[in-house]
Amino acid sequence: MFSFHVREGLELGLLEEHHAEDLYAAVDMNRDYLRQWLPWVDVTKSPEDTQQFIRTSAMEFASRSSIVTGIWWDSSLVGTVGLHKIDWMNRRAEIGYWLVEQAQGNGIVSCSVTSMLRYAFHDLDLHRVEIRCAVGNDKSRAVPERLGFHFEGICREGQWLNGKYTDLRIYSKLASDL
Ligand SMILES: CC(C)(COP(=O)(O)OP(=O)(O)OC[C@H]1O[C@@H](n2cnc3c(N)ncnc32)[C@H](O)[C@@H]1OP(=O)(O)O)[C@@H](O)C(=O)NCCC(=O)NCCS
Repeated sequence: MFSFHVREGLELGLLEEHHAEDLYAAVDMNRDYLRQWLPWVDVTKSPEDTQQFIRTSAMEFASRSSIVTGIWWDSSLVGTVGLHKIDWMNRRAEIGYWLVEQAQGNGIVSCSVTSMLRYAFHDLDLHRVEIRCAVGNDKSRAVPERLGFHFEGICREGQWLNGKYTDLRIYSKLASDL
């Protein structure tokens, strides 16, 4: 079973279908806060949608194109962190994440991203990892900045978010930056 012990009380693990109810509840109870920045929230309307997401994630894990893990904090499922769009030709990938609102402010995502980065560079031998976040998402941009990512610039209107195109800030870390 693929899992990481991040720190005391903080674990990452692959999502399985029996997690769908808990994961859907986490999204459903945090809809207004999450939908500001995550385009998939409005199309997640039932636990079946979350179950389908988990199935797709399992297929992507099997084909080595992404790794999505749940974040368990004191045994509660409080969000996800994933290594997405793994491009084996160029050995690059993107990291994405979200947390329930009340779990913010504890370093959960920063520490989880650090574990995911270690896995990406040391175990998968990737060369480059990106984090992209919408301009204005200050909590999200603080994560790569806290972890010493390099700010590369703005991807203009790179994301369709809440009815309009939004600029994205692009951050990167190279294996040689470690
Ligand atoms: C983006 C998001 C994950 C950031 O959450 P967060 O809790 O601020 O980030 P972390 O879990 O890394 O915690 C950092 C905070 O914990 C504090 N902290 C406590 N212990 C810490 C530790 N050991 N290490 C790092 N930070 C620690 C930091 O000081 C910081 O607090 P501050 O914001 O008051 O300065 C969250 O706001 C979120 O899910 N937002 C909605 C969805 C979203 O925007 N996803 C990203 C799309 S690009």
